[in-house]
Amino acid sequence: MVFETKKDVLDWYERQERTLTPKYVSAIDWAGVRSHSLDEKLVPVLFYMRDVETLTDMYYRELRRTPTGKDPHISKFMERWGVEELTHGELLNRFLNELGYESDEKWQDQVKRAVSREYHANSYMITTLTNLVGKRFTATHMTFGAIHEMSTLQAYRRLSKIARHPVLTYLLDGIIREESAHSKFYWSVARLELGRSRIARRLSRSIIEHFWAPVGQGSIPKERTDYTIATLFGDAAGIDVVDKLVTQRIRRLPGFTDLTKINETAKRIAAAAMQPGIA
Ligand SMILES: [Fe+2]
Ligand SMILES: [Fe+2]
Repeated sequence: MVFETKKDVLDWYERQERTLTPKYVSAIDWAGVRSHSLDEKLVPVLFYMRDVETLTDMYYRELRRTPTGKDPHISKFMERWGVEELTHGELLNRFLNELGYESDEKWQDQVKRAVSREYHANSYMITTLTNLVGKRFTATHMTFGAIHEMSTLQAYRRLSKIARHPVLTYLLDGIIREESAHSKFYWSVARLELGRSRIARRLSRSIIEHFWAPVGQGSIPKERTDYTIATLFGDAAGIDVVDKLVTQRIRRLPGFTDLTKINETAKRIAAAAMQPGIA
């Protein structure tokens, strides 16, 4: 389906029902979590994903201060998007609890408080700059969002496949369907915004080349991002997923046909993780 306007994209999104409805969530077999084994190496990955989902709230609040967040169609999408990401974080936290990893009642505040002052200073600067550039920056925000959502979606698919844990699979299936709708929204709006203006294309491409980093990096210590990427995408099959299901899709956006940044980043992180002495 090719959308002509942001309104079309939003209308499509609003026709999609939530997957993680109370009914879907109530069918999660929490009591069965410990009846199946889960490779311990995946626990830090689950914590990482839980934290990234939780920090969406912070990112959402930052974005609302920019022209992108004030766009009526995008802001309407973001209201629901923010709620869905929060649910993902909460469900992953519950899964970890059931697995035997307790978390404090105020774990969400702790995750937010752990974000460095450097990150906040940086994001303040970026938001201010964004306001100077104005609406033309929306294409950049949407392209960033598309890459983040697509890589998150593929990360969950890989996690589900590697873990082979029935309760996690059911939970992740629900999350994956919602991430898939997020990806389509961001990608479709990015396509429209990039297609409209050469300046937007150039700005977007240049910012992705210079500043793009895997989702979570910057607000969460880099070692945790690298560990997650190396664990989920560190072999030939993982790199192939990044190429086919993230890079190739982003390359279909105006101005991005020869993008190599995402593949290179994934390969570099995977190679560094294979060096002796770095676990
Ligand atoms: Fe999510
Ligand atoms: Fe998402």
